[in-house]
Amino acid sequence: MRIGFIDSGVGGLSILAAVKAKVPAHYIYVMDNRYLPYGEKTEAFIQARLAQLSALLIEKGAELIVIACNTATTQAVAALRQQFDIPFVGTVPAIKPAAAKFCQSGFTVLATPATCRSAYLQGLINEFAQDCSVKTAGSSELVRLAERKVWYQQDVSADVANELNSLGLLQPPPAAVVLGCTHFPFLTAELAACLPNTVFLDTADAIARRVQALTLAGTEEEGATESYDHLYISSGKLDEQQLVRVNDLGFDQYQHWSKPATTY
Ligand code: DGL
Repeated sequence: MRIGFIDSGVGGLSILAAVKAKVPAHYIYVMDNRYLPYGEKTEAFIQARLAQLSALLIEKGAELIVIACNTATTQAVAALRQQFDIPFVGTVPAIKPAAAKFCQSGFTVLATPATCRSAYLQGLINEFAQDCSVKTAGSSELVRLAERKVWYQQDVSADVANELNSLGLLQPPPAAVVLGCTHFPFLTAELAACLPNTVFLDTADAIARRVQALTLAGTEEEGATESYDHLYISSGKLDEQQLVRVNDLGFDQYQHWSKPATTY
C-alpha cells in the first residue's frame, strides 16, 4: 500500500515516525517548503494548494493521505474530502484529551497563527472544552526554529526561550500545552527546558492508530516480508546537507516538484 503525507516542512515527519512504527507501507512524503510557513497563508491558498498536492500524491499511487499539518487540516480537510475519493486522515490539536485532564487548571494551544484563528479550532474548543480556560498562542517563529534544528542540527534553545517569552507563555507557566503544530514535537526538549512542570500533548499516536485502523486489511494482504521504499518530494530545492538528511531519515528516493501554486 502507498500512503501519502503532506506538510509545509519537516513537521509531518513527527507524525510519519509514529505511523511508520505501526503500519508497514510505501510512504510518499510531500514537503511544500516553497510556501512555508502555511500558518501565514490564507484559507483559499491552502485549500487550492492542498488540492494540487493531493492530486500529485494520487497520481503517484497514494491510496490514503495523511494531512500531517494542523494548519492545512483546519483550513482544507473538509474540502479535500469532497473533492477526492480516497480517505484523508487529518491532524488537529488534541483539545479533547487536554480538556479531559486539564480543564480545571486550564491549558494553552500552541499552534500556527492560521490554526489559532481557524473556525475549526474554535469548533473543537466549543465542543470539548467549553467550560475550560483555553488560551491560544500562534507562532511561525517556532516553525522556522524546528526547521533549523531538524535540517541543520542547530542549537535553537535560546531562540525557543525568547519566543516563548514574547508569547507570554513563561509567566505564569501553563499546566499543559497542546502542541497544535506538527513541527513543535521536534522542539519538545527546548520547550520542556523552559516549562519544566508543563505537560505537552501531541497527536502522533492517535493519527498512527487511525491510519492503522484504516489500513488493517491492506497490510495483512501484503504480508510482513515485503520491502518498502519511501519517496521524499519537496517543492523547493534542497541543499546538499538536506539531501543527506533525507537519506538519513529513511527515504531512498528524492524528487524536486516545482509546480507553483495556482491561487494566492
Ligand atoms: N506543520 C504545520 C502545522 O502543523 C504548519 C507549519 C507552517 O506554518 O508551515 O500546522
